[in-house]
Amino acid sequence: MEVELICENREKFMDLLLLADEQEDMVRKYINKGEMFALFDENLVSVCIVIEETKGNFEIKNIATHKDYQGKGYGKYLINYLFEFYKDKGKTMCVGTGESPLTLPFYEKLGFKYSHRIKNFFIDNYNHPIYENGILLKDMVYLRKEF
Ligand SMILES: CC(C)(COP(=O)(O)OP(=O)(O)OC[C@H]1O[C@@H](n2cnc3c(N)ncnc32)[C@H](O)[C@@H]1OP(=O)(O)O)[C@@H](O)C(=O)NCCC(=O)NCCS
Repeated sequence: MEVELICENREKFMDLLLLADEQEDMVRKYINKGEMFALFDENLVSVCIVIEETKGNFEIKNIATHKDYQGKGYGKYLINYLFEFYKDKGKTMCVGTGESPLTLPFYEKLGFKYSHRIKNFFIDNYNHPIYENGILLKDMVYLRKEF
C-alpha cells in the first residue's frame, strides 16, 4: 500500500470526494486547500483532505473509500497514517459528519470522541436534502481526537 500526497490536479479525484460530500460546490470550497492524500493498493482505493483549521488543530474535510473497497481496512489505514503524519505538527484532529450510522461508528472506532455540533448545518448549507441510509441529515456532528 502506498499513500501519495497530491498537490496538483486534485479535480481528478472529484468522483471519490463526492461519495463523502455529494454537492460539488461544497467540495470545491476546500478541494485546493490543505493536504490531499490518496491511498493506492495497486488501484486508487481511498482519498482524504485535511486542513489546518486553527494552529495545531487539523480537520478532516473529506475521506472516502471507493465503493468496491469499503470495509477492507483502507479508511482505517489512511486515518492512522494521518495521525502519524500530523502528530508532531499539532495537537488535535477533528472531523465533521452527519449523524449517520454509516460514518459515526467508523470514527469512534478510530478513537474520535464527540466534541460539539452545528445545528441544521446540512439544511442551511446544502441546496437539497441529504439522506444517508434513509436518514435526513440535519446537524453537523464534530468528533475530535488528541494526538
Ligand atoms: C466511511 C468510510 C470512509 C470508511 O472507510 P472504509 O475503508 O470502508 O473503512 P474500514 O474498512 O477501514 O473500517 C475501519 C473500521 O471501522 C468499522 N466501520 C466502518 N464503517 C462502519 C459502520 N458503518 N458501522 C460500524 N463500523 C464501521 C469497520 O468495521 C472497521 O472496524 P475494525 O477495525 O474493527 O475492522 C467509507 O465507508 C466511505 O467512503 N463511505 C462513503 C463516504 C463517506 O461517507 N465518507 C465519510 C464522510 S463524513
